[in-house]
Amino acid sequence: MKGLILSGGKGTRLRPITYTSAKQLVPVANKPVLFYAVEYLVAAGIDEVGIVVGDTRAEVKAAVGDGSRFGARVTYVEQDQPLGLAHAVKTAYEQGFLGEERFVMLLGDNLIEGGIRNLVERFRSREMNCQVILKQVPDPQNFGVAVLEGDRAVRLVEKPREFLSDLALVGIYMFDQNVREAVYAIQPSWRGELEITDAIQYLLEHGYLVRPYVHQGWWFDTGKMEDLLDVNRYLLETQEQKLRGTLDDCSRVYGRVVLEPGAELVGSVVRGPAIIGERTRVVNSYVGPFTSIYHDCLVSNSEIEHSIVMENCCLSDLPHRLEDSLIGRNVELSLSPVKPKAFKMMLGDNSKVGLL
Ligand code: G1P
Repeated sequence: MKGLILSGGKGTRLRPITYTSAKQLVPVANKPVLFYAVEYLVAAGIDEVGIVVGDTRAEVKAAVGDGSRFGARVTYVEQDQPLGLAHAVKTAYEQGFLGEERFVMLLGDNLIEGGIRNLVERFRSREMNCQVILKQVPDPQNFGVAVLEGDRAVRLVEKPREFLSDLALVGIYMFDQNVREAVYAIQPSWRGELEITDAIQYLLEHGYLVRPYVHQGWWFDTGKMEDLLDVNRYLLETQEQKLRGTLDDCSRVYGRVVLEPGAELVGSVVRGPAIIGERTRVVNSYVGPFTSIYHDCLVSNSEIEHSIVMENCCLSDLPHRLEDSLIGRNVELSLSPVKPKAFKMMLGDNSKVGLL
């Protein structure tokens, strides 16, 4: 089996972060979201991986490379325009990555509890042409949904206007070669995209067997900041304490704290679960639960909790605790010593700031 990870798209709901970088490369628990997808495949015994890339191709390629450090062989599939998930599959056939073999398709910004090993095993061992992974959700109108009859899916609809089912399609799909016919046959939806949901509905209408699997654990489509903070929390909760950095005599760590190599605590308290990245310094500060601070940052005379900070940021002398925040790369946040005493900011388009 092969794996196909979709890593294009514009990430509009994560602007301004996504003006300058791919949404799939935002780190959660100090690892880019996309890396989890590659690791899910490798853990399921799939090492031949295609990554569909778009406008952010250079950055994605630089981050993932040839896949060898994951134990995978990565091929890049170039999608000119984000014209839908089924269009990405079509492109992967056209560029020769997909052929006759079965494959798993994953959305590169989705994370699922427990990975996909059992799901792949189930697909391998039972008779079916396609397996869809479903999750009960309170807002099915925002997803593709499936209607089931016993152990079969009988109808799939993308973003249903009227209630049909509360079982949403999680961004994980498994197909045999018959999906090729489907992605060539369907027409664009009202949003101008070739929908994978419509391709699977085509399979149903042409007598192919589509089996559902209803996932019980957590699942996140990390398209929004709140989802990133949630999934960051879940992932940090599963880590063990690992102190590979240094802390001085005045510093304390409590609970599941990870200090990555070169991380340094000086006169600071870190209360886990939390992770402090490589070469990041935390000086006279407090880092509270559910915080991930990435590599090469400086936090001094400040308090931060339940937040994600990306690489190379400097947070200093903050007069209040920073909470529930997603801070992009190379951000400087500090108490300005220069009078007049006022908020002084340079914020990107679509920034969101909550002041006291
Ligand atoms: C896509 C799929 C949808 C699925 C969702 C999962 O939606 O079209 O069927 O439920 O991913 O995240 P989109 O993110 O394109 O709105």
